[in-house]
Amino acid sequence: MRIRPRRLRRTRAIREMVRETTLSVKDFIAPLFVKPGEGVRDPIPSMPGQFQFSPDTAVDEAVDLWSLGIPSIILFGLPDRKDATGSRSWADDGVVQRAVSAIKAQIPEMVVMTDVCLCEYTDHGHCGVIINNTVDNDATLELLARQAVSHASAGADFVAPSDMMDGRVAAIREALDQEGYQDTGILSYAVKYASAFYGPFREAADSAPQFGDRAGYQMDPANALEALKEAELDMEEGADMIMVKPAIPYLDIISRVREISLLPLAAYNVSGEYAMVKAAESKGWIDGERVMMEMLTSIKRAGADLILTYFAKEAAERLMIDD
Ligand code: PBG
Repeated sequence: MRIRPRRLRRTRAIREMVRETTLSVKDFIAPLFVKPGEGVRDPIPSMPGQFQFSPDTAVDEAVDLWSLGIPSIILFGLPDRKDATGSRSWADDGVVQRAVSAIKAQIPEMVVMTDVCLCEYTDHGHCGVIINNTVDNDATLELLARQAVSHASAGADFVAPSDMMDGRVAAIREALDQEGYQDTGILSYAVKYASAFYGPFREAADSAPQFGDRAGYQMDPANALEALKEAELDMEEGADMIMVKPAIPYLDIISRVREISLLPLAAYNVSGEYAMVKAAESKGWIDGERVMMEMLTSIKRAGADLILTYFAKEAAERLMIDD
């Protein structure tokens, strides 16, 4: 036979030479949950290996991640109290604001991102304010902008709106510029589906909607053209980087968005994707570590430059062993 593809698979060294996709610790953004208190490190039952931290222990965790070479984290806040408008989300003494400034004080070079949304802060658990029984788009924009400015003033390098309101990237960009935060970037959750894969996160962040669902603002999993439209809009509105979420069930979307975007593209390997691996691994049904590396490599191969993943620490440790 003249052509034998197996020649390129014969030894490990050959395979490594011709490998098309390489995962790097620099691709990872690690999500962290922060809540009020001190010395807190509460395990999240549906996400083994993940914790809710207080600002001080979040600093310790960030230092660990940084020392493994992970360049970036994204913070989610569990506030001390919730109300109808999510007002604790833009409080200067809010839990995310305190964690950001503590982390930046300790490790100034680390790229600190914050999730900008209202669902963790509202008593009804929706991502915007409720007017006439629906999540009101335009009234929500101002609150998101206020939250983004407050995160920027605490020292966040990037704010990451995850609410899926129309026009929020433009509203946030304008507010940041007006307040003098021209250099604070926006990583937009441009393409975010109404997904059942967020289940464990809603337990971790205590953010499940108290009535209805998010289908009126997050995207229908059946749609792909709409993903391109959402991505284009956020690019026009001034996003610095865009994201597709979830990752594994939407690899086709990642690769299609990659083709139309000139911006760095992130993918969110979400809580349900993580929990399923951990659960199957604990039953002895899969090799969790290999599945983790295969998932992350597939997300990169599909076209993502950056991966938000709860596996960040474990995968970083694995990559160090492989080197
Ligand atoms: C909303 C938000 C969610 C996630 C990130 N930001 C949940 C939702 O939209 O209900 C999910 C992340 C995950 O599942 O890991 N602020």
